[in-house]
Amino acid sequence: MDTIAKKYKNALSGSKKIIGINGSPRKNGNSDILLKQILKGAKETNVSAKRIYLRDFQFQSCAGCEKCRKDKICTGLNDGMTLLYPKIIESQGLVIISPTHNYNVTALIKAFIDRLYCFYNFTKDRPGPWSSNLAGQGRKAVLIAVCEQKSKKDMGFTLDAMRLPIKALGFDIIAELPVLKVFNRGKIRENKEILAKALNLGKNLAALLNK
Ligand SMILES: Cc1cc2nc3c(=O)[nH]c(=O)nc-3n(C[C@H](O)[C@H](O)[C@H](O)COP(=O)(O)O)c2cc1C
Repeated sequence: MDTIAKKYKNALSGSKKIIGINGSPRKNGNSDILLKQILKGAKETNVSAKRIYLRDFQFQSCAGCEKCRKDKICTGLNDGMTLLYPKIIESQGLVIISPTHNYNVTALIKAFIDRLYCFYNFTKDRPGPWSSNLAGQGRKAVLIAVCEQKSKKDMGFTLDAMRLPIKALGFDIIAELPVLKVFNRGKIRENKEILAKALNLGKNLAALLNK
């Protein structure tokens, strides 16, 4: 394991933490309620959890400057993501929730995931092998997608767009929850079954981290 990866692994020693990333631009919407519920489950299982509303952070998508190849963290941009990197590194659990916007994750989640590019190591060969400085450290993730339509196909790429990169970064995705048929702000409150599932997701993630 290279030095940076070792440093990130060491940042996980001590009590387990979960970071919950919310990609909805809508305040008090369905993602907000679901994320609160998941993290409530985690806290009930004695893992500390922090909610991040990406809409409250000023940040842009990756500029492709490639400075991270040398610096091993994003140094090309100094913005809201600069505040989030340490929290990501020190959290063994990651929860990401995105509403479906046009068959995909929201622009906030896309920009967030693109900014995780700085966690990769590349060789000089193009195309060439790569590795992630977050891999092999027992990091675990839960992915949730929320949409209006009733069929999973109307979610389009929402779950795929989170799963592929988060897996590539070295997270073990322990669960995915597609939440269908919810449009109005806060409507998910009426769906007790989904709320119970969300609570359990948080409990399960916390229990696995504590193993
Ligand atoms: C710009 C935009 C695009 C959307 N695109 C889709 C879509 O492609 N498929 C779908 O089922 N719902 C779509 N929706 C509906 C949202 O996914 C739905 O209202 C969801 O509950 C919003 O979650 P939130 O309250 O956490 O923001 C869209 C909503 C907006 C604002």
